[in-house]
Amino acid sequence: MKSTNRDIIQWIEIDRGALVHNLRQFRSLIGQDRTLMAVVKANAYGHGLREVSEIVLSAGADWLGVNSVEEGINLREAGFDAPILVLGAALRGDLEKAFRHDLRLTVYNTETIDALGRLAAKLKKRVRVHLKVETGTYRQGLRAEDLVRFVRRIQKHPGLVLEGLSSHFANIEDTTSSAYPDLQLKAFLAAVDRLGRERIEIPVKHMSCTASSILFPSTHFDMARVGIGLYGLWPSKETLLSCRLQKREPIELRPVLSWRARIAQVKQVPKGSFIGYGGTFRTTRAARLAVIPVGYYDGYDRGLSNSAYVLVRGRRAALRGRVAMDFITADVTDIPGARLEDEVTLIGGNGREVITAEFLASLAGTISYEILARLNPQIPRIVI
Ligand SMILES: Cc1ncc(COP(=O)(O)O)c(C=O)c1O
Repeated sequence: MKSTNRDIIQWIEIDRGALVHNLRQFRSLIGQDRTLMAVVKANAYGHGLREVSEIVLSAGADWLGVNSVEEGINLREAGFDAPILVLGAALRGDLEKAFRHDLRLTVYNTETIDALGRLAAKLKKRVRVHLKVETGTYRQGLRAEDLVRFVRRIQKHPGLVLEGLSSHFANIEDTTSSAYPDLQLKAFLAAVDRLGRERIEIPVKHMSCTASSILFPSTHFDMARVGIGLYGLWPSKETLLSCRLQKREPIELRPVLSWRARIAQVKQVPKGSFIGYGGTFRTTRAARLAVIPVGYYDGYDRGLSNSAYVLVRGRRAALRGRVAMDFITADVTDIPGARLEDEVTLIGGNGREVITAEFLASLAGTISYEILARLNPQIPRIVI
């Protein structure tokens, strides 16, 4: 039994070796000549923004991808000087901050482009922008037919440097069919071609996420933006299946994150006791219960009520009753050694057992991305 972190009630362990290993897998997929962006938005998919950024940069990632200007500033304030691209939305009120912290921005509105251009003139600084083109996701992005007009608009502002052209796949993880990604890739290539005919060269073209980086080398372009795979998870079962159907040897991914806590109380309850809010579980025998100080506030999905289990002393302890804001309760009747402040594993391995984020996601009716990204940033992240 591990005896580290005795004084912490719950913590998240980040396995540096696993993260470096996963990064190398993607490096070998995309090659040395392409830029590898580590997508560290959403607190590095719950793993810890600064902790992950430090590891991936020292292991050879070239760029960092964040969602917001705030995340970018957080990294700059920690001293990271690698290129950072804001993948998400930036309000016009945030643009000056983005400038001052040398963040690259994804743009798709003329209003943003003009506001950036004016700021560049005022601050006598240049900013690099990435135009996002719509290829079928219908999230951010400008229509392909407007692309040249947008480029001309950017070119009117001497302080704006058009560095990138991007797009994002919509339906690649949910299917083994390549029909929709093919369509999107075709639309992206058509956009590149259209710019080429106008003699507009864009140095950093990028649309590849984890799934496309694994499955479709033709999507790699100049830079791959890899998120979930870095954290050691396949985007979906369909992605793994597609990989096998294509007769590709699947890369080996190692989960990076473990989530652990300590038992806050062990109690004996009589047969017939109602456990937790709503009395949704009634004991069918006299039971020993472990009260664990983790709840939905921490990111433990309430949909796991009465269905998941945790690991104590290498054995499964079933959740009894509802997940509350700050507590869950597990049955340790058959783990007689379980006692106060024993380590509990919520995600990760313990002895021969392992609980994956994918498994919890399947129980909670969601995807692993959400299970990870919603882990409360206040939980200490410990790099091991
Ligand atoms: C714009 C963009 N690029 C790249 C990624 C990384 O995707 P994945 O985690 O599947 O690699 C995301 C994730 O949602 C994204 O929104």
